Amino acid sequence: MIFGRVKPLDAILATAEKKSLHRSLGAFQLTMLGIGAVIGTGIFVLTATAAQKAGPGMMLSFAVAGLVCAFAALCYSELSSMVPVAGSAYTYSYAVMGELMAWLVGWALILEYALGASAVAVGWSGHIVGLLDSLGVHLPHALSVGPKIELGFIKGGEVGGIVNLPAVLIVGLVTWLLVIGTKESATVNAVLVAIKVAALILFVAVTVPMISGHASNFHPFTPRGWGNPFGSEGVGVLGAAASIFFAYVGFDAVSTAAEETKNPQRNVPIGLIGSLLICTIFYMLVAGGAIGSYGAQPLMNPATGKYFVEGSPELYASAACHSATAPLVCSKEALAYVMRQVSTPWLGDIVGLAATLALPSVVLLMMYGQTRIFFVMARDGLLPRKLSTVHPRFKTPWVVTIMTGGVAALFSAFLPVSSLADYSNSGTLFAFAVVSLGVMILRVKDPSRPRPFRTPLVWVFAPLAIIGCIVLFMSLNAESKGVFFGWTAIGLVFYFLYGFRHSNVARGVVDGDEDDDITAVQH
Ligand code: ALA
Repeated sequence: MIFGRVKPLDAILATAEKKSLHRSLGAFQLTMLGIGAVIGTGIFVLTATAAQKAGPGMMLSFAVAGLVCAFAALCYSELSSMVPVAGSAYTYSYAVMGELMAWLVGWALILEYALGASAVAVGWSGHIVGLLDSLGVHLPHALSVGPKIELGFIKGGEVGGIVNLPAVLIVGLVTWLLVIGTKESATVNAVLVAIKVAALILFVAVTVPMISGHASNFHPFTPRGWGNPFGSEGVGVLGAAASIFFAYVGFDAVSTAAEETKNPQRNVPIGLIGSLLICTIFYMLVAGGAIGSYGAQPLMNPATGKYFVEGSPELYASAACHSATAPLVCSKEALAYVMRQVSTPWLGDIVGLAATLALPSVVLLMMYGQTRIFFVMARDGLLPRKLSTVHPRFKTPWVVTIMTGGVAALFSAFLPVSSLADYSNSGTLFAFAVVSLGVMILRVKDPSRPRPFRTPLVWVFAPLAIIGCIVLFMSLNAESKGVFFGWTAIGLVFYFLYGFRHSNVARGVVDGDEDDDITAVQH
């Protein structure tokens, strides 16, 4: 019975004891790690996508997505304080719901992390291209955006695009850094967090005071309604929430680092909830500022009388997007663009520069998360063990790192940021829902196990997290839902061809027999 294939919690904890990565992170560093992983392409770029989907109503989208994440974070906190080991949602699922579910979660996390890294890389590309433009250096359009693609239900790109070279280059650079075991020191992370937060504060300080003179920018507030989770378009307030959810992804990087945390029982929940709270407040202010100062109405195609699809070739090719006062929805560097338009160009460039400096660390954290999940899955025998090979000199899992880099580079080369973020969200929402279910199952199955952090009102918050994840998932467009189900089907085939027979649990192998210690990247 594959549903009986669980990895007992005590075995997981014993493995963690045996092979523990160095525990060096405290509550403050974890919160910083959380903010470092969370603030990125979502707020700096996808604000444009959210505006095209919801108009000013995107403020509500930020609130909805933040709320769903808060419920999920409370559930994550209970599990990560009980099972403070690397591998996050994947590991918890193994203990609580068995191997097949763990595999599906691990497989979905590839969407979250690897494609998430691609999305951030494309967001970075938009900023470096914009910044160079400001300096009078114009990269050829063909080499700075992906091509127009129509592959079954996968659509996107831009007329005249060939390959997003800056995105590929940044993924390549980050892969190399991870292979040689570059440690993003707490200091570097703290500096980058300070840069991002300073840029957002600057944005808020300049734009929010302009709201009072531009109340009309908020009308109509929800030009595309609330959206229909049963539809295929993925628009409206809920559709935008499903996309902007990406802006909150990454707080679970904190739980991924649990194995490297001092007193994880106390510090992980603080890191998760603290970083989420700070980001939500910022996002609401930034969205309000962007709408109030410049406006964020969605753009209609004059030829058809219908709204353009967000991030579509047609939108970017439209006359409105080529005018000097192009709407926010046309920009690939939304916040920098708004700043340039409503204040002075150099203030916009400062915001763009901050994003250019800080986004590579988000790419690094997402790719780091992916390599550690691949590593644990290979350690468990669900992926070929060779993948967990550690480099003799650098002591890093270099095979999975290069694999992750290859996947992320490929997708960032050809797909637009809005599609990549939506695909990534589909995997993340699935993982969050499973974790929230796991918390409840464990309360029933193992009520007496010590819980250093207990999710308050778990029977309310965990179901709300699950419902929230399902509603957001359903609110994605048909393309993203299709990608998720297609990806899951491929995952099931892989599992039955390989993991089903080779996993440690199937073979009765006791964890810890093999020497596969690695050096942690985060310190
Ligand atoms: N939340 C991260 C971002 O917005 C992934 O870039």
